[in-house]
Amino acid sequence: MIRNHLLLIVLCASLISCQTKKDSNYYKEPHRPQFHFTPESHWMNDPNGLVYLNGQYHLFYQHYPYDIVWGPMHWGHASSTDLFHWEHHPIALYPDSLGNIFSGSAVIDHNNTAGFGKDAMVAIFTYHNDSIWAKGFKNTESQGIAFSMDEGITWTKYKSNPILNNNGEQDFRDPKVFWNRETELWQMVLAVGDHIRIFSSPNLLDWKFESNFKPNETSEPLGVWECPDLFPLKYNGNTKWVMIINHGDKGPNGGSCTRYFIGDFDGNTFQQAQDARWLDYGTDFYAGVTFSNVPDDKKYLISWMSNWKYANQTPTKVWRSAMTIPRELVLDMDSSGYFIRQHITEGLHALKSNTIVQEQISSNYHLSNIDLSQALISFRSISELLKIKIGNSSEHIIIEINDDSVVIDRSNSGVVDFSDRFATKVQSMPISEAITECKIILDRSSIELLLNDGKYSMTNIFFPNEKYSELSITGEKDSKITHLKIDHIARIWP
Ligand code: FRU
Repeated sequence: MIRNHLLLIVLCASLISCQTKKDSNYYKEPHRPQFHFTPESHWMNDPNGLVYLNGQYHLFYQHYPYDIVWGPMHWGHASSTDLFHWEHHPIALYPDSLGNIFSGSAVIDHNNTAGFGKDAMVAIFTYHNDSIWAKGFKNTESQGIAFSMDEGITWTKYKSNPILNNNGEQDFRDPKVFWNRETELWQMVLAVGDHIRIFSSPNLLDWKFESNFKPNETSEPLGVWECPDLFPLKYNGNTKWVMIINHGDKGPNGGSCTRYFIGDFDGNTFQQAQDARWLDYGTDFYAGVTFSNVPDDKKYLISWMSNWKYANQTPTKVWRSAMTIPRELVLDMDSSGYFIRQHITEGLHALKSNTIVQEQISSNYHLSNIDLSQALISFRSISELLKIKIGNSSEHIIIEINDDSVVIDRSNSGVVDFSDRFATKVQSMPISEAITECKIILDRSSIELLLNDGKYSMTNIFFPNEKYSELSITGEKDSKITHLKIDHIARIWP
């Protein structure tokens, strides 16, 4: 009898999901991004367990599958061959008696060091247990591990979890694990209070403390330390290490933010070589981490496009929040030291069509009745001052490029009154060189600005009442704007 009921439930659930996909409104709700990843329904925050295996990129994510606000965390799961066309899979990790499943990473255990099997996909995540907090103890967080032998579809939690216990530290989370070819060990970076803790392990199960990384700085402390990453990048044949740290508050334009350090790492200690830089100056770029196990050591990063200041209030109903486009991180150098460029990946170029090209435009250019709801606008410019306005007949975003800053104003971009923290002030990014190249990626409710070959990045969300359809670019009289291209970007959902 119970079995029959179960069969019926499974049958109904599969019918409902088939109907959803066949429904002509599938993924077409107001504000729904068309080529960025969003969950089919309900709440999403950080990208988790980003890993490549057998031709597929796997994206796990912080997910609360019962509401559109943050709640007890699960890991949702999707996969893609090109980092754009995503296929949804069943929820990968559910809360258990040790806690809810907070952020973490995934690796491929090619040599079966953990004993789960050759090429096991292994997830390393934080258990967050509120009942411990309720009893008056601070050690609510510990690290757990799970493995999958079928490319992330079904998971087995390790029988002796947690693998890393907590001796009373309040914020002790978001393990990012990688294989270090030099030391031939697994290494983990973990956000602990106001620093990053580094560990190593031969087998993903037994972890040895190596060192703490706490940067030299005198400025006011940033918000809670979360979601670190540590990886090597090459510049002119030399290897430098990049330490990414996400902070829950006090970003350059308020709220959640991502910064990075460039330095050296010997398997034990990370030595900071220069001051921190922001990876993005917009308010909607958070918890960014990179994929592991990608061929040719390429580093692709995805961030969550929201901000803890208002993430729970954004005006969507069926699902909540999107990821950034994947960005390839490339190391470069100028007179101020090393820095990271963020490049658009190949998959986006393959989605372009209906391109408008203007070799040269006037310094007072205006285009209307054009669909800018899914678009890549790019141009080159020789001009100190530029004003770019993108909108519909009554709403718009204004981008101003000045000689020492880029400013974004979304105060009249559409629905802004869902939170008094959303659009109260303009956002500003300092620049140390003239902006000569500009890419603007628009997808219904997001704008990603990548300037000077991805040297400068600013990411924002916005919620227009009507599709954006007008573009104006205004410069000084002697400004020269060339190679203007407006590409329509195709929808990725069925
Ligand atoms: C970052 C974060 C992580 C935590 C997760 C909980 O946005 O706060 O530190 O693991 O989200 O959902």
